Amino acid sequence: EKGGYDYFMLKEIVEQPRAIADTLLGRLSVGGELTLDEMRLSAQDLRSVEKIVIIACGTSYHAGLIAKYAIEHWCRIPCEVEVASEFRYRDPILDRQTLVIAISQSGESMDTLMAVRYAREQRAKVLAICNVNGSTIPRESDGVLYTHAGPEVGVAATKTFLTQLAACYLIGLYLAQVRGLKFGDEIDAVIAQLATMPEHVEKVLDTVGPVRELARSLSDADTVLFLGRHVGYPVAMEGALKLKELAYMHAEAFAAGELKHGPIALIEEGLPVVVVVPSPQGRSVLHDKIVSNIQEVRARGARTIVIAEEGDESVRPYSDVLIEIPAVPTLLQPIVATVPMQVFACELALAKGNDVDQPRNLAKSVTVE
Ligand code: M6R
Repeated sequence: EKGGYDYFMLKEIVEQPRAIADTLLGRLSVGGELTLDEMRLSAQDLRSVEKIVIIACGTSYHAGLIAKYAIEHWCRIPCEVEVASEFRYRDPILDRQTLVIAISQSGESMDTLMAVRYAREQRAKVLAICNVNGSTIPRESDGVLYTHAGPEVGVAATKTFLTQLAACYLIGLYLAQVRGLKFGDEIDAVIAQLATMPEHVEKVLDTVGPVRELARSLSDADTVLFLGRHVGYPVAMEGALKLKELAYMHAEAFAAGELKHGPIALIEEGLPVVVVVPSPQGRSVLHDKIVSNIQEVRARGARTIVIAEEGDESVRPYSDVLIEIPAVPTLLQPIVATVPMQVFACELALAKGNDVDQPRNLAKSVTVE
């Protein structure tokens, strides 16, 4: 059942192009209108939304952080993202005009479920993004958009994360559509690009070989830092989480702009630093700033592992290892940039002899608060 792989996680990483394609199937129409009929929320419900609050845990929380960038940019609706376990304890401001999006792969995380119940008591509308049909969170929500990743056995979320991203993009584009925001060229281009993401992920999977060698060479490192900006920041957080849970290593992500406010003091000779570089075409200011950050940490002895768009030659002189990913619109980059991080954490954990499907102390779904 592992399809010839030693671990489910390896199989699930490879299944990602199919998982994304299945999640987009029948919902995305290039050059036309999106169809999210089964969502159970009416266009009228969505038109009256004044604020969005996303709640989730772990990897699903990272998907939420990325969704915020997309939703605010495309829909111009204020969007907050919060770790579900913190949500109801701070007396959040919710009302009928608030759309709460609860992201949960399993649909059973108790922290997220409790936050959903709280939000509904406060009269907010709740939309779940979930991978398990008929699980508790979608049953208790007003609407649901299912991801079609298929069963994920490995404790570490991989294909479900990429499909959560696809679902978040669909919701953002759909909201823009039902609210009558003019579909400008940018939105049309994004829809067309979203449809091609399965191929792009396939390409990344075909080219990650060097990541495996790199990971094996770093199995003695004590700590790995991850840097990103914009949507690359939550991607860096996801890379660090994967390394913690699979390789039991200290890993931490920073927004690259925060480096100079403290974390740069951590940099020392040989410290591996993984950097997610924004596209030079998209937000070029951010691109140039992060290139300076790479230079700064390298000048202090860091070993730089750089994930950048193919053809971005500006980073090559400062990269000890350069991992190229396909050029896609900035907001969609997390789909391709996450994949080398998953492979990196998985291979590093395997090099340490860890069971990547069943890491110590963890359960696939956390049904206690
Ligand atoms: O099933 P959920 O999406 O609600 O689970 C949330 C987290 O427990 C989960 O993403 C966890 O962080 C994963 N093990 C990460 O790989």
